[in-house]
Amino acid sequence: MAKIEDLIAQIPDERLRNGIEAEVKALKKTKKFGLVFEEHLPETVRLPKMPVKPGEIVTLKRENGNHRWRVKKIHKGIATCDRAIEGYPSADDFNKEFPVSDLVVVRSFGDAIYPALVSVDRVERGGAEKPWHILINADNFHALQLLLYCYEGKVDVIYIDPPYNTGARDWKYNNDYVDDTDTFRHSKWLSMIKKRLLLAKRLLRTDGVLIVTIDDNELHRIRCLIDEMFSGDDVQLVTIVINPKGVVTKDRFPRVQEYAIFAFGPDASLEGRADDYLTIEPDDGFDASSGSKPRWNSLLRSGTEATRKDRENMFYPVLIDTKREAVVGAGEPLPLDTDPDLLKPVNGYQAVWPIRRDGSWGRWGLGNTTLKTLIEKGYVALGEYDAKRKTWGISYLSQQHREQLAAGMMEIVGYDKKKNVVDVRYPEQAITRIKSVWKRTRHDAGAYGSDLMRKFVGDGAAFQFPKSLYAVEDAIIPIMRHRKNGLILDFFAGSGTTFHATALMNSRDGGSRRCICVTNNEVNETASKELNRLGFYEGDAAYEAKGIALSVAWPRCRSAVLGKRMDGTRVEGAYLGLDSNGNLKSFSDGFEENIEFFRLDFLDPDSVARGDAFQAILPVLWTMAGCRGKREDSKGSQAWFSPKNAPFAVLIREKEFRAFRDGLAERKDIEWIFLVTDSEENFGLMRRALGKKYQCVQLYKSYLENFRINTPEVLGQRSVA
Ligand SMILES: C[S@@+](CC[C@H](N)C(=O)[O-])C[C@H]1O[C@@H](n2cnc3c(N)ncnc32)[C@H](O)[C@@H]1O
Repeated sequence: MAKIEDLIAQIPDERLRNGIEAEVKALKKTKKFGLVFEEHLPETVRLPKMPVKPGEIVTLKRENGNHRWRVKKIHKGIATCDRAIEGYPSADDFNKEFPVSDLVVVRSFGDAIYPALVSVDRVERGGAEKPWHILINADNFHALQLLLYCYEGKVDVIYIDPPYNTGARDWKYNNDYVDDTDTFRHSKWLSMIKKRLLLAKRLLRTDGVLIVTIDDNELHRIRCLIDEMFSGDDVQLVTIVINPKGVVTKDRFPRVQEYAIFAFGPDASLEGRADDYLTIEPDDGFDASSGSKPRWNSLLRSGTEATRKDRENMFYPVLIDTKREAVVGAGEPLPLDTDPDLLKPVNGYQAVWPIRRDGSWGRWGLGNTTLKTLIEKGYVALGEYDAKRKTWGISYLSQQHREQLAAGMMEIVGYDKKKNVVDVRYPEQAITRIKSVWKRTRHDAGAYGSDLMRKFVGDGAAFQFPKSLYAVEDAIIPIMRHRKNGLILDFFAGSGTTFHATALMNSRDGGSRRCICVTNNEVNETASKELNRLGFYEGDAAYEAKGIALSVAWPRCRSAVLGKRMDGTRVEGAYLGLDSNGNLKSFSDGFEENIEFFRLDFLDPDSVARGDAFQAILPVLWTMAGCRGKREDSKGSQAWFSPKNAPFAVLIREKEFRAFRDGLAERKDIEWIFLVTDSEENFGLMRRALGKKYQCVQLYKSYLENFRINTPEVLGQRSVA
């Protein structure tokens, strides 16, 4: 209900109530131009981890909706509460008693809260050079505010797929499902989405693009909203066929499509591809090969079954002539119980052995007989020397490329005699502009959304509407193709398709794009009822384990990177299109990416010890510094903290500034400096002394205050709250 109706309903005098109701109705008929909707009461959020104390606003765990009470006192586990409403309380609204264990703290949007990112799990497969992706389990309104501290004006693409508000209880407003009997259904949804889009817009770069997918239920309303927020010229509607069979509705046209609204920042532009997404469909559905040199396969096997023990006969020396920069031959496999002498030449040539990134023995991806045949044809190339691993990079033309050569889909355009390597190219293909109606088999949300997701998460995954992986990739790539280090955000991430698509894009072209995904941990209605029946409520571990973030999004992201499911089984199947080596990529290959999973917790500044507070804000500092290097924890008890692998340093005791500054000389990689001081003046002095080389940020000693959210300053404009 809108705020005004809520207040009117509380007027005890019936005549007065009816009179005011009639006046308000008449007033509402006065139309303004543009999108008119009820701005709803502030949304509330439950904070199950916050202690119930006198003064807190609470609600009953077991009730739907958030009927708020203010705790007056607590005695022997019983809280005495007054109803927390504006207007006209009745006698029943005072001195009610509830067991504290039945209550949960709630905050309205607008009440300051102190967020902390708490690490839940992580997977590291990208090595030290690759930045980390992050998945955050949070209400996106809070996460967006926190992200504003880190990335205001820095995000390249925001891709969101919000609940479509179908009336089929597909989303919750104030902890209550919204269905088609709710006459305020549309305005509640618009209130919810507007608050978030206002924050999202501030995150976008001037050449950034917001993409919102939607269906007919809210298309026209959200289009108006986005038109009002962006200049109308910068907004475009794309129609995507996602279900060619169509959803059959009696006496109506079977619906085959949904939409993506693209809102372009003033400097944004789109790149064409070899496929226009509408006319003749390419054979493999992709244009990764357009007019380019194919990427050669690394001879060193990576991913699964890549150790020496996995294939003994693929551990042999490759012979190279470093003067000619050529691969000249292959030696015999070495038995498992014998270690090679790395420096000893073989047949008069330098020998190269398969050594993995971590220095352990690996294996080649081909047997020595096949390799010798390929060397004769000029299909094997010598790469760079890697001093850390004490070995050389070697690459070869994959079987698929060789087949493409044979079929005339690729051409040999040159031969380097000295290096004994052919130069192969795909014929130039015309780049065409992408049309505004997309009809591609790969956009089918059934085959490439639900079915594909289930392969990674398992059949029991309780999530209904993931996007086609390739529809997300196709939406983002025209903006991100050449932004190989760009930042992508999805704050209605659901099962994490956007992360999966980002990792896939990177694997196709060797990019280091980064994705931040945010999803809440909603439990679907059926599961929620069952859990309640068993006595589990929001905040209980058994309840939370069934939520989307924990049971779908993280398992999917993790399995996509590792190529195996949570239970350790391999994911069978292959991605459409080619990877960066010009090969088909198996699901089980996984991705060379790093990703950390966080939960957004809320802390009570009165009950958090100083060291815990430092630890709580560290992930935010790491995020601000670009999520680079494996994250480290610290209690902050030292004079300064500079994690070994991340490009930032925190001066904790300002008295030690000089020694801190001198110490920085040894860390050429540091780009961000956080200076803990309550004095603006001292901050200014220290910043000047450090020079322009660093991005300096002041941190208050009361750590949690630095990232307080829900305040008018963070929200930017009061009307949002
Ligand atoms: C339509 S789904 C997105 C599906 C996603 N594109 C995919 O491919 O898996 C919308 C998701 O947003 C989540 N969600 C809804 N309201 C949210 C909120 N306020 N904060 C964070 N996530 C929210 C829901 O839990 C749901 O998983």
